[in-house]
Amino acid sequence: MLPPAALDHLIHHYMTEQSVIPATVGYHGYQHASCISVNHVAVHGIPSESKILKDGDILNIDVTPRLDGPETNHWHGDTSRMYTVGESISVKARRLIEATDKSLVAGIVAAKPGNRLGDIGIACEQVANAYGYSIATEFYGHGIGLIFHDNPEVIHVEPEEMGPILRPGMIFTIEPILNIGKPGVKVLNDGWTAVTRDRKLSAQAEHTVGITEDSVVIFTQSKGG
Ligand code: MF3
Ligand code: CO
Ligand code: CO
Repeated sequence: MLPPAALDHLIHHYMTEQSVIPATVGYHGYQHASCISVNHVAVHGIPSESKILKDGDILNIDVTPRLDGPETNHWHGDTSRMYTVGESISVKARRLIEATDKSLVAGIVAAKPGNRLGDIGIACEQVANAYGYSIATEFYGHGIGLIFHDNPEVIHVEPEEMGPILRPGMIFTIEPILNIGKPGVKVLNDGWTAVTRDRKLSAQAEHTVGITEDSVVIFTQSKGG
């Protein structure tokens, strides 16, 4: 089987073919077209050249394509989802991925005009808690548009303050990280890779969404849904 770096090369090639720029390349020194976070890596995994993916692994692939051309055209999309390797995926890994997808969907459903930003965090957290999982609180969703990481911070747990009312035209990401064990994560010496402190499995899912007059639009849904 392949190492994550091989997937990253395919991603980079595909983006080039589609005439979009991987916004992660050169972002604070990051050098890859994607982040690939395997098993207990919670977020920002650097696509490894050497750690071959193996049967039973679960991984998140996170991509941020940006439109090319003049700066006024530099719109970003930011999305990630979980994938599984081979046939022998454990029941607990499948359940974690299911919970993560549902947590993201609950956050998106809560992202409607008139609600507050904090309603999104409450919705994401409720799903995680119902499964008995925790949410990593060091990483947030974010405003996005012509800027990759913009205000506001979109937190995925119940906030101290409910934050602003959601209004048409707001564009941001929702990207909860669910952990089977404790919520704590730490960044490794490479400055990027964030792993769960207890080394238990972690999963993430992300969409870029926009608030409309009466609903929410998902900008990053794949053709397959
Ligand atoms: N795509 C990530 C996010 O969801 C950010 C990755 S930045 C990188 O916000 F430099 F690590 F690629
Ligand atoms: Co992302
Ligand atoms: Co993001």
